[in-house]
Amino acid sequence: MSDVCKNWSTWLKKTRFAYMDENQVQQTLNWLMILRNQILDYAHLESAQKIIDLGCGSGLLAFGVIERFQDSVELIFQDKFQDCLDECKNILKDVQTPYNASFLCCDVASLKLEKNYLDRALMRSVLVHIVEKQPVFDEIYRVLKPEGIYCAFEPIISETTRYGDILKGYNISDYDEFKRAEDEFMSRKDDCLVNFSANSLDENLNNAGFSDVLINVDEVKSSYIAKFDAIKSWFITPPAPNQKTMKERYLEYFEEKKVDNFILEVQRELSDKQVEIISKTALIKATK
Ligand SMILES: C[S@@+](CC[C@H](N)C(=O)[O-])C[C@H]1O[C@@H](n2cnc3c(N)ncnc32)[C@H](O)[C@@H]1O
Repeated sequence: MSDVCKNWSTWLKKTRFAYMDENQVQQTLNWLMILRNQILDYAHLESAQKIIDLGCGSGLLAFGVIERFQDSVELIFQDKFQDCLDECKNILKDVQTPYNASFLCCDVASLKLEKNYLDRALMRSVLVHIVEKQPVFDEIYRVLKPEGIYCAFEPIISETTRYGDILKGYNISDYDEFKRAEDEFMSRKDDCLVNFSANSLDENLNNAGFSDVLINVDEVKSSYIAKFDAIKSWFITPPAPNQKTMKERYLEYFEEKKVDNFILEVQRELSDKQVEIISKTALIKATK
């Protein structure tokens, strides 16, 4: 396992910001707050509901629920990994308002809850870390009450700007080979990060039995000046614990010397230049 990413709570606190300067970290945090409010607004939360934050991580959504509803809702922090739940418990120690929360450590595809239990299931950036998406939707459908609402956000990484797009026009050795490799590993069916689209999510939700499925796809454009060292971090920062870095993905196709040369050429070409990235995201709502 990578030294910079031992578990999920470390990834959430440190690793995901590894290649960002202070300004970018702040922008990301602001964006997460906006996103959290969007998901909570979209879910039509009300007092007396039973609400779960699935794959809660460090509790982005759950703490937003507490801020809005205090102890007037029954809230469950759920995650597969105990380190995340421990992190949330630590944060809760400093929460001054009353709350009614419990903790559930299990896989989201096998929730330790009876059927028809929940009013709302909230989720942000969790499906993207699970290879088989359909069983997750089937399970969420099972534990929601009739008329219960599932509301989520997922990045559609398979459609996000690729190196091959950014580097077009630059003089990179073996550009075509690297582009072919990237296009191949960015569309693998067994890779949880890229094996889905808005259409496949829509299909999964309908298959599970949900109705009124809404998937709002958004294109987020970010534009910034790339820094030499930050560019290297793009290649060596794991996208999640136990997930291959971009460098490791290229190493499945080329010798290390060639990959290192590619990374160096990318650093030289993009350093101190304006880089534009388009990220596709999906805001999802479905009713049981
Ligand atoms: C990118 S983080 C998102 C955390 C949080 N939802 C947020 O918005 O900041 C992904 C989370 O999904 C959790 N996770 C990954 N696989 C899971 C699974 N099979 N069941 C439940 N949680 C899972 C991880 O532990 C991690 O907390």
